[in-house]
Amino acid sequence: MTPALDVTDLHASVGDIEILKGLSLQVPFGEIHAIMGPNGSGKSTLCHVLAGKEAYTVSGSARLDGQDLLGEPTDVRARMGLMQGFQYPVEIRGVKLVDFLKEAADEAGIDPDEAARRIAESGDQFDMTRFLTRSVNQDLSGGEKKRSEIFQMAVLRPKVVILDEIDSGLDIDAVREVAEAVEAMRSPEVGIVLITHYSRILRYLSADRIHVMMDGRIIESGGPELAAQLEAGGYEAFRAQLT
Ligand SMILES: Nc1ncnc2c1ncn2[C@@H]1O[C@H](COP(=O)(O)OP(=O)(O)OP(=O)(O)O)[C@@H](O)[C@H]1O
Ligand SMILES: [Mg+2]
Repeated sequence: MTPALDVTDLHASVGDIEILKGLSLQVPFGEIHAIMGPNGSGKSTLCHVLAGKEAYTVSGSARLDGQDLLGEPTDVRARMGLMQGFQYPVEIRGVKLVDFLKEAADEAGIDPDEAARRIAESGDQFDMTRFLTRSVNQDLSGGEKKRSEIFQMAVLRPKVVILDEIDSGLDIDAVREVAEAVEAMRSPEVGIVLITHYSRILRYLSADRIHVMMDGRIIESGGPELAAQLEAGGYEAFRAQLT
């Protein structure tokens, strides 16, 4: 079956600095994959490159549900079904969450009645109903902002979701809440990539695979036991695998 996300030998540089050095990653539909890696290993760069942020010279391939991503501008990639969640979601003053979502749903080609149904249903599920008439992310706590992003994803139903450090800055309960929201988003129609520094979030959701990223590449992939191994021994043990 065609994977949700299929990245092969991805290279990305800024000027003469190479940041991604031949990264390969496959995320099947229905699965949640975690990427863990030390500061500066290129995790956020991977997000930016997949989203189509300019400034990088890119080679290799990245496919979303079989379609080439790298040749497309940012907005087309979003319409193809790529959606990212950020460490610090932006506040949009003066735009109510409900209007923002209806507009985004319209752009994604979702029928307005269907969009309204999803907003009501997922609003309930993620306890976001009371935020619908407030400005997007404005004056929300860190945890609420993350929950809001996941709620938006549940309404828009992208094919690939990439969450960059969605757990950083959250208290213990909020990490669990966000993890459970991510798990609730799991479906056969979406592949989810979760970038994290902490194995704590992995206790509350069942990641299908863990990938260790170092120096611009995935250097090891495995099951949940890999997170435990990292927690115990840090990245040092993996450094030997860098050539
Ligand atoms: N525009 C740029 N110009 C030069 N170097 C860059 C640029 N963007 C990123 N880098 C460098 O690339 C490396 C990877 O950065 P990136 O933000 O992707 O790391 P990361 O794995 O997300 O780290 P963290 O865990 O701290 O968030 C860093 O050394 C960073 O300084
Ligand atoms: Mg980062």
